[in-house]
Amino acid sequence: MSELNLILIGPPGAGKGTQAERLQQDFGLPYLATGDMMRAAKEEDSDIGREVKEFVESGGLVPDGIVCKVLMARLDAEGDDGFILDGFPRTAGQADVLQDALQGRGRRITAALVFEVPDEKIVERLAGRRVCSKGHPYHVDHNLPKHEGVCDIDGTRLIQRDDDKPETIRKRLEVYHEQTEPLVERFEADGIVRRFDGTRPPAEVHDHIRATLAVLKLEEGL
Ligand code: AP5
Repeated sequence: MSELNLILIGPPGAGKGTQAERLQQDFGLPYLATGDMMRAAKEEDSDIGREVKEFVESGGLVPDGIVCKVLMARLDAEGDDGFILDGFPRTAGQADVLQDALQGRGRRITAALVFEVPDEKIVERLAGRRVCSKGHPYHVDHNLPKHEGVCDIDGTRLIQRDDDKPETIRKRLEVYHEQTEPLVERFEADGIVRRFDGTRPPAEVHDHIRATLAVLKLEEGL
């Protein structure tokens, strides 16, 4: 194996998308975010679109069958030069699908980057988050765009996400602790977990990840 296959795990608002954007620039890896895929799917005028909309807007998880189908098709289309997966896997079933598919292609997850942020911090962060139509994240207090209300990267208008309301944030946190957090233990047993303090400023978290991945690349000859 010669590629860097990264998965990002953490509660909603832990900074996965913020760091993924930076890592994408550092390593030139394809970035696949199932949250973005599900938000695109929910806009479709179809039975699946309506089903996805219901789950995303209530803060629940979209059923594994739908997410895995969409994600695996995108992953296959990217070839085998590495990837950054943001928000997938989120359940034991999704982890099985991913690990089996990679194993069948002689590949594996290189590292699971785990972002740790306490629940009370998450609510404050997400209430202040603004995103553009492509999902680039900003914050009204500590991650401002250069021009108010406009994305620095693509110039589109910034809005608040439908699922960033306090009651939906609480539901998303509950789902994270019940269904996704147990995966950390599973990946720990595989020796691939690298933990990061997501309460540190974004640049500091980024430096820590880059240093960790530099060591990993040396150790694994990547
Ligand atoms: P998804 O879009 O993946 O949402 P999430 O995991 O809840 O994560 P977020 O995007 O909210 O947060 P983030 O960690 O990326 O934080 P960000 O960098 O934006 O999923 C949405 C929905 O889609 C799910 O609820 C589900 O319904 C469905 N779905 C998706 N994947 C699925 C799957 N695999 N299976 C089933 N359903 C699925 O940062 C947040 C804010 O904090 C920003 O304002 C940012 O500027 C700020 N910030 C970031 N880092 C820092 C820092 N270090 N210090 C201070 N502020 C910071």
